[in-house]
Amino acid sequence: MTETSYLTAVRASYDAVAVDYARLVGRELDHRPLDRAMLAAFAECVRGGEGGGRAVADLGCGPGRLTARLDGMGVRAFGVDLSPAMVAVARRSYPGLRFEVGSMTALDIADGVLGGVLAWHSTIHTPPAGLPPVFAEFARVLAPGAHALVAFEAGDERVRVEQAYGHPVDLPVHRVPPDLVAGLLAGAGLTEVARLVRAPDGDEESPRGFLLARKAPDTATGAGEAGARPA
Ligand SMILES: C[S@@+](CC[C@H](N)C(=O)[O-])C[C@H]1O[C@@H](n2cnc3c(N)ncnc32)[C@H](O)[C@@H]1O
Repeated sequence: MTETSYLTAVRASYDAVAVDYARLVGRELDHRPLDRAMLAAFAECVRGGEGGGRAVADLGCGPGRLTARLDGMGVRAFGVDLSPAMVAVARRSYPGLRFEVGSMTALDIADGVLGGVLAWHSTIHTPPAGLPPVFAEFARVLAPGAHALVAFEAGDERVRVEQAYGHPVDLPVHRVPPDLVAGLLAGAGLTEVARLVRAPDGDEESPRGFLLARKAPDTATGAGEAGARPA
């Protein structure tokens, strides 16, 4: 399958499930303290970082539930998603926040401007061979010293989902080893800060991985260095 056809299938699938996804998954994090802990740690890194006032992109935001959680934690967040129907649901649910249609494979965001990137189960449909250019996009748009948090399905297999949230879909899901994610992020210039791998919960079929990584500070200007202050 070419990259174009994989994105087309993912977009069409999420367009079909958007409303029911939002209804069924909306409160999921209320019962997942470890997931919330990683998100809270990311938010604290963003707020405490030198670029604390910069915006954070929730890439593959779906119905915007994580964008809204970040906003509730004092992080200036906006969402980007491949699926226009997901973006429509997000805009309806959180009219005070900004959501745009776009792909993390080619972001319409300037270099080095973001205070953080969140990819919460949104890289799971990208084949492992497609991850290096996606992570390069994350690194490109992050400010020096800024953090990225990637949540994913841990494992080493590809599964095909044909039914989800009450609809027929055509969704490849790539479970990937946490060491591979860490290595690919490092290859893009995002160094691992911390990781969490937790056991499957409820009807989940695989462990969940969470990897927090950071772009190197700019040592020439001091931008993004812990403790550095503007002159
Ligand atoms: C499992 S959902 C997760 C949504 C949201 N992060 C959440 O946790 O509720 C995956 C989302 O990633 C989006 N997505 C997949 N590939 C994408 C890409 N290349 N660019 C932007 N969004 C993408 C899908 O449209 C879908 O909304």
